[in-house]
Amino acid sequence: NVKACIFDLDGVIVDTAKYHYLAWRRLAEMLGFEFTEKDNERLKGVSRVRSLEILLEVGNIDATPEQKEKWAHDKNEWYVDYITKMGADEILPGVVPFLVELRQKGIKTAIGSASKNANLILSRLGLMSHFDAIIDGNKVSAAKPDPEVFVAAANVLGVSPEHSVVFEDAEAGIEAAKAGGMFAVGVGSDQILAKADVVIGSLADLNYEKFMCLLNVK
Ligand code: BG6
Ligand code: MG
Repeated sequence: NVKACIFDLDGVIVDTAKYHYLAWRRLAEMLGFEFTEKDNERLKGVSRVRSLEILLEVGNIDATPEQKEKWAHDKNEWYVDYITKMGADEILPGVVPFLVELRQKGIKTAIGSASKNANLILSRLGLMSHFDAIIDGNKVSAAKPDPEVFVAAANVLGVSPEHSVVFEDAEAGIEAAKAGGMFAVGVGSDQILAKADVVIGSLADLNYEKFMCLLNVK
């Protein structure tokens, strides 16, 4: 039986992928190449530093550590400009009712995100109080697909992995959940998230009862 639900942030709770993309695209433009939406898929769930490396690979650009640091910093400034303008209307459909219902049923909730901007985003959206623990990119050293972020979240909640369920939109995140011994719910396309235990289109498809059925089907 489930005692904790751990949610990825970007792409599960809120669609920040579009702002990450706008900021990365601006950097690519500055460096003189085109960065497509398809290229951007590769950045989902991946840390900021790793994202930059992938982008530079796409643009075939060699850079010094100093340049890389500056570009990652610039990209983040642009990204933060977007996310500080976000409001509660950008919370993805179904998120708030599901979180409320989970807690009413005694299930703990946490965020397990690679982002170093998680607190900023959650405050902007007014969601901080919906989570019992927030583990983000500032608190872990190993990025997904390493399970560290989810294992840390379960530890803070005092719940063992086999009683924890992870919600993820990125392949690296599903791999992380499985490596941590947790049940993985993919949020998005079942082609991309084939390694998940089950896949749903969005949290709007779920309530507590349907969630319990999903767990039993597996
Ligand atoms: C993940 C996103 O949640 O966080 C990635 O899916 C992003 O696209 C990563 O690169 C790091 O985010 P941030 O906010 O620390 O740059
Ligand atoms: Mg994500």
